[in-house]
Amino acid sequence: MEGRNLTLVVEFFFVGFTNNLSLQVPLFVLFLLFYVISLLGNISIIVLIVAEPRLHTPMYFFLSNLSLSDFCYSSVIAPKMLADFFASQKVISFIGCAAQSYFFTVFGTIEAYMLAAMAYDRYAAICHPLLYPVIISSNVCIQMVVTVYMGAFLTAAVYTWCVFHTSFCGPNVIDHFYCDLLPLMKLSCSDTFVGKTVIFSVVFSLGIACILVTIMSYVYIILAVLRIPSNMGRAKAFSTCGSHLMVVGLFYGTSLFIYLQLPSGDAVVQNKVFSVFYTLVNPMVNPLIYSLRNQEVKRALWKRTFSQRKFPLAKLVK
Ligand SMILES: *[C@@H]1O[C@H](CO)[C@@H](O)[C@H](O)[C@H]1NC(C)=O
Repeated sequence: MEGRNLTLVVEFFFVGFTNNLSLQVPLFVLFLLFYVISLLGNISIIVLIVAEPRLHTPMYFFLSNLSLSDFCYSSVIAPKMLADFFASQKVISFIGCAAQSYFFTVFGTIEAYMLAAMAYDRYAAICHPLLYPVIISSNVCIQMVVTVYMGAFLTAAVYTWCVFHTSFCGPNVIDHFYCDLLPLMKLSCSDTFVGKTVIFSVVFSLGIACILVTIMSYVYIILAVLRIPSNMGRAKAFSTCGSHLMVVGLFYGTSLFIYLQLPSGDAVVQNKVFSVFYTLVNPMVNPLIYSLRNQEVKRALWKRTFSQRKFPLAKLVK
């Protein structure tokens, strides 16, 4: 019963990146730039896909949902981080911290599930082109998207609960720039073993499941593509999944780096640098990868920005 008279933490403080003013300004400008590009890129993708009837296919619905989640993902972290940049006390309330952890994990999880769904979609399109409209009908597509969202809201609730149902009574300084679950667990004064075990086993099993779906889909895709006799046909089949494969590589690449952190060097600094990658850089480059590599997106973008302005009646005439 010694724990009774402990005072509970009502707010947390972030350490942030650096107190070195000569580094603060360039980092602030860089991160602001990343964030603005990511907002503009993701909003453009969503608007483009919603506005362009030719892009109303499952692949692009998944993509617009991925952009939506990228948009939310960086918006959970970046505004607070940028607003705090020059503050001497980077404070966040307990509830604010729990909310940030929750939504951050929600959108991170959506990303992982959505990439797996997209891999399955590409598998169906390339390996079963004739049955594709049946396998991924618009109903199935909506169901997949809803499942991804519900699954993510649920798993994120489990993670967040594991951390925030414990007591925080001691130090309340988070050596990070947002409320990340693992640094928070270190501050908890309860026993976090069970929570950690639950989080790791859920992340591990669902992560493995997503990775397996993705890898299996691509194994079948590659086998199917290799059977295509003409070079042209092969290139065409691959071009529809090339951007997805790059985004998958980037997502798992950065996630892997975080978990396989090299024991040498400053783990906290490494963690912060990689966190910048997955909170700001990934959401920024995903739309760029899709729009620069994808002929259909490029064509639609071109059409939206140029032809419609010159020929506003083009649509009616058609
Ligand atoms: C997400 O997916 C659903 C279901 O396919 C689709 O109707 C919607 O337009 C997509 N995009 C966004 C931004 O929600």
